[in-house]
Amino acid sequence: MPLPPISVRHGAIQDADADALIVNLFAGVAEPGGATVAVDTALGGAIRDLIRTGDLTGAAGEVKVLYPRGTIPARRVLVAGLGPADAFDVHAARRAAAAAARAARDLGAASLATIVHGAGIGGLDAERAAQATVEGMLAALYRYDAPKQKKDEKAVKTIEIVTLDGAQLSSVEAGAAVGAAVADGVALARDLANGPPNICTPGHMADTARRIATDVGLDVEVGDRAWAAGYGMGAFLAVAQGAGHAPAFIVLSHNADRTDVPTLVLVGKGVTFDTGGISIKPSEGMEAMRGDMAGAAAVLGAMQAIGRLRLPLRVIGITPCTENMPDANAYRPADVITASNGKTIEIISTDAEGRMILADALVYAARFQPAAVVDLATLTGACVVALGQNIAAGLFSNDDALAGRLLAAGDASRERLWRLPLWPEYHEAIETERADMKNSGGRQGGVATSAVFLQEFTSYPWAHLDIAGMMEQKKVWDLGPAGATGYGVRLLVEFVRGWAVA
Ligand code: BES
Ligand code: MN
Ligand code: ZN
Repeated sequence: MPLPPISVRHGAIQDADADALIVNLFAGVAEPGGATVAVDTALGGAIRDLIRTGDLTGAAGEVKVLYPRGTIPARRVLVAGLGPADAFDVHAARRAAAAAARAARDLGAASLATIVHGAGIGGLDAERAAQATVEGMLAALYRYDAPKQKKDEKAVKTIEIVTLDGAQLSSVEAGAAVGAAVADGVALARDLANGPPNICTPGHMADTARRIATDVGLDVEVGDRAWAAGYGMGAFLAVAQGAGHAPAFIVLSHNADRTDVPTLVLVGKGVTFDTGGISIKPSEGMEAMRGDMAGAAAVLGAMQAIGRLRLPLRVIGITPCTENMPDANAYRPADVITASNGKTIEIISTDAEGRMILADALVYAARFQPAAVVDLATLTGACVVALGQNIAAGLFSNDDALAGRLLAAGDASRERLWRLPLWPEYHEAIETERADMKNSGGRQGGVATSAVFLQEFTSYPWAHLDIAGMMEQKKVWDLGPAGATGYGVRLLVEFVRGWAVA
């Protein structure tokens, strides 16, 4: 389902002609201010009536509907709760925008007009507030209905952002443009991760990368088995050798030829379906492994946004894509594999396939002489055990400054990270007599032993994000429906933007 287009207008919100007009309210406020009081006055005090009766409290997530009965052109007024003023931030604005958009859509509203949450009394930077408003609304309106013959007829067709403050207009326009670019990247990542593995194959990932390259002006290269063999990518090819669908090693480049700006490399795990291979997973719940390419999806979504926003850096996105299948040709436990840096790996579990394909991608990343490399991977169930589901991704880094930038981007985007240790002591768990290392360190500390494995293939400031717990939501949540979250797109765009200004 395509996301609705966003327009920005200078004017008074109460004059908007829309199916739903959206204003807001802080918790515990008896007398609304700003745009909300302007609408309330036009409605003859109806909003204040709701507050007085206790039917409208301003709590975060709350949305109340009023019917203007011809007092203003809009068909409905929605008041979104911002939560308490002292806890208000960009994310509270994003959440309120999302809740209002979802409520309006569910009522059947096709045209929305909204104020910028937080830009007035909220005291947020107008550009940031507009970005958050657009990100939140579009994230909530996202729906994956491609495979359904009968689409839900309730759909928002247009969104108008209205600002009364003419001095803020250009900031609001700029923020709305960033928000729309980010939201489109999130939707792309969600579409890929929601896509079933018979449709979202490595070839589909490659086609998507080519389309992004054309749309926003990036360079793209797609390596097949022979290409990977030319680089000696034994680890990537080991996982791919049991796959029926051809693998694709995708490289997208933004500002490929610029030598005057630093280079960042983003790497995403692209296992389009993880059966575990010969170390096969239990069948119950295996369907969740459709999302084992969520890291690659986030990188493709972020690269689309980065290209569209023309961020002033050289950014390379690398997504090794393959299925992990059991097959007569599949790699097996006890195999010894040579990666593209010459290091040998004894296979203990073919289900530890993510670190195998990332190994060759991390070696390949070095050729771009990066200032930093960040990989995103649905790498371990152990990370979910450690940090929980939909709480934070695990962050490992060999560089404190890089880790600090990522943690800051995680806070600003509210795609949170929690740093975990990359201590050399973890290395013992992956030592073996039979090769330079083995691909599984066993159960204890599984999230960290996978990170020290990856470190063997790095030679630059590097960070690894284990996003296994972040790839999907089981039910409708603050920023979207059940299903793939698109986690990482907002984080990566924020990280790259932060690097560009510093
Ligand atoms: N893709 C899985 C990890 C995963 C689990 C992601 C749950 C999302 C939700 C990964 O390839 C895997 O199978 N990891 C193994 C590693 C083990 C064999 C060392 C795991 O976590 O059990
Ligand atoms: Mn696996
Ligand atoms: Zn996997």
